[in-house]
Amino acid sequence: MNHPAFKADPLTDIDVQAPAWVKNRKLIDWVQRIAALTKPSRVVWCDGSQQEYDRLCAQMVKAGMLRKLDESKRPNSYLAWSDPSDVARVEDRTFICSKRREDAGPTNNWIEPADMRTTLDGLFDGAMRGRTMYVVPFSMGPLGSPIAHIGVELSDSPYVVTNMRIMTRMGREVYDVLGTDGEFVPCVHSVGKPLAQGEQDVRWPCNDTKYIVHFPETREIWSYGSGYGGNALLGKKCFALRIASTMGRDEGWLAEHMLILGVTSPQGRKHYVAAAFPSACGKTNFAMLIPPEGLGGWKISTIGDDIAWIKPGRDGRLYAINPEAGYFGVAPGTSEKTNFNAMATLKENVIFTNVALTDDGDVWWEGMTDTPPAHLIDWRGNDWTPAIAKETGRKAAHPNARFTAPAAQCPSVDADWENPAGVPIDAFVFGGRRSTTVPLVTEARDWVEGVYMAATMGSETTAAAAGQQGVVRRDPFAMLPFCGYNMSDYFGHWLKTGARLAKMNTPMPKIFCVNWFRKGPDGKFVWPGFGENMRVLQWMVGRIDGSADGVEHAFGVSPRYEDLDWSGLDFTREQFEQVISVDADAWKAELALHADLFDTLQHGLPAALKDARSALERKLAA
Ligand code: OXD
Ligand code: MN
Repeated sequence: MNHPAFKADPLTDIDVQAPAWVKNRKLIDWVQRIAALTKPSRVVWCDGSQQEYDRLCAQMVKAGMLRKLDESKRPNSYLAWSDPSDVARVEDRTFICSKRREDAGPTNNWIEPADMRTTLDGLFDGAMRGRTMYVVPFSMGPLGSPIAHIGVELSDSPYVVTNMRIMTRMGREVYDVLGTDGEFVPCVHSVGKPLAQGEQDVRWPCNDTKYIVHFPETREIWSYGSGYGGNALLGKKCFALRIASTMGRDEGWLAEHMLILGVTSPQGRKHYVAAAFPSACGKTNFAMLIPPEGLGGWKISTIGDDIAWIKPGRDGRLYAINPEAGYFGVAPGTSEKTNFNAMATLKENVIFTNVALTDDGDVWWEGMTDTPPAHLIDWRGNDWTPAIAKETGRKAAHPNARFTAPAAQCPSVDADWENPAGVPIDAFVFGGRRSTTVPLVTEARDWVEGVYMAATMGSETTAAAAGQQGVVRRDPFAMLPFCGYNMSDYFGHWLKTGARLAKMNTPMPKIFCVNWFRKGPDGKFVWPGFGENMRVLQWMVGRIDGSADGVEHAFGVSPRYEDLDWSGLDFTREQFEQVISVDADAWKAELALHADLFDTLQHGLPAALKDARSALERKLAA
């Protein structure tokens, strides 16, 4: 590969001197300790300003790590190409180091905390040599919101700093909230590639050895060896899901892998829906959906596209915030047709990672336009043409290529997306990617049945995680890679939350299960998806308001053909049958897979879920 040379920071004495605006003693001591361990050449306390962002970007451009895109086509935007080995989350290198193995549970990698600390001490000793250590203060959630929490990431990657500035509320104001003795989640990140004096850097430093480590009891995160988003932007999956889920368990709230959207009827009635889908199953598209014109007057607004923090309010409702401030979305497949709002969000101030570069200094990825440009530089830095692609099958963009963009730029952003009190949730939606078996939409008859459906959800794997793609794996609540504690206890926490809500005088959120991905005998998707998913949302809202009908079957309630509004869409009864049908034999096999999951999770598995399974089996047999 052709990497322009990178000039390392000159080796100077470590100066950890905190600026006057940092007053938190615990923070200053910790930065001192980590600097002594990792031995960077200097420490920079980030202030989150635009000047700082511009300076870091310019520095990365000079070093060859970022490329500035054409200012007239994509103002203030950049393109990064990662090392080809560092393109996705590494689930097999992700660890939950609780004191007791059973608290991590059978679905998480666990290593005894003291052993892991010994390993990390070795790895991080001198890990930042020749680099700058940045101190990145951030708030997950609106600054000062009672639902928000603060973290501080120490990282030797300027790419991480600039992405964190888009993805979180990052900067000096965080220190004001932190004060002299406020709490923060300490996050340490190193790309794991120290530089000897005079040694030239590579374009995307990383290490073959990778560790993404969480200590839930002390609420610490340590990440080594990767510069890629989900492994390195520690506010996102590591804090807002893995650590926050354990905080939620202990404090009575929920941290979920969910988008949050508002749906407003033509009559002006508004509901909020939180929806969980595994990675790269269209959460960003669903959160920014534009209803089809034929439906007349429905409106969708976006609160978040990936993570929801949900806390019970005094009125017995659940209130959700999006702890993030930006979107780290999958680029391939995103187009004006599939997600107009995302494309509008991406007009400026964006960092693209692993997409292709056009000859006029802009970006392109598979699915962005029907006809690809005649020539591109692909994400590995090689020439790419449609003919080369046809011959070699090589993609111009990596399938997990990403954009990092400010949420405030989204045309559909909800007026309350930064409301510190959150928005009240009327329904939860759970969906997987299943080419067979699972119907388009099913409403659970009660909370326990809904929790059962979410707990046993399966999905075909995608490029968002390293490993084999397209195999069905159980992904309970779309949280399999993100739950910071024992999955059975997590189910218990959801059941407890439901029991608590049931005691209040307020309607419980309804729980729905969806599948946009059923395929016909020709191997093609039957359901058109995207904006047409509004029809399913419309039915859900009707169920919440009591105005929509459905038919009960073994697994809950689903609409009949006549229960959905088909205005403006040509979708036949036969096609509907293909996406809604429940095949008894397929479901027998499916229930056997649920039983396998329950075997794996047997330690602490709530009896209510085993009972729910038996009840479904009986219903299916009847
Ligand atoms: C993501 C993921 O990046 O789920 O959101 O992988
Ligand atoms: Mn996600």
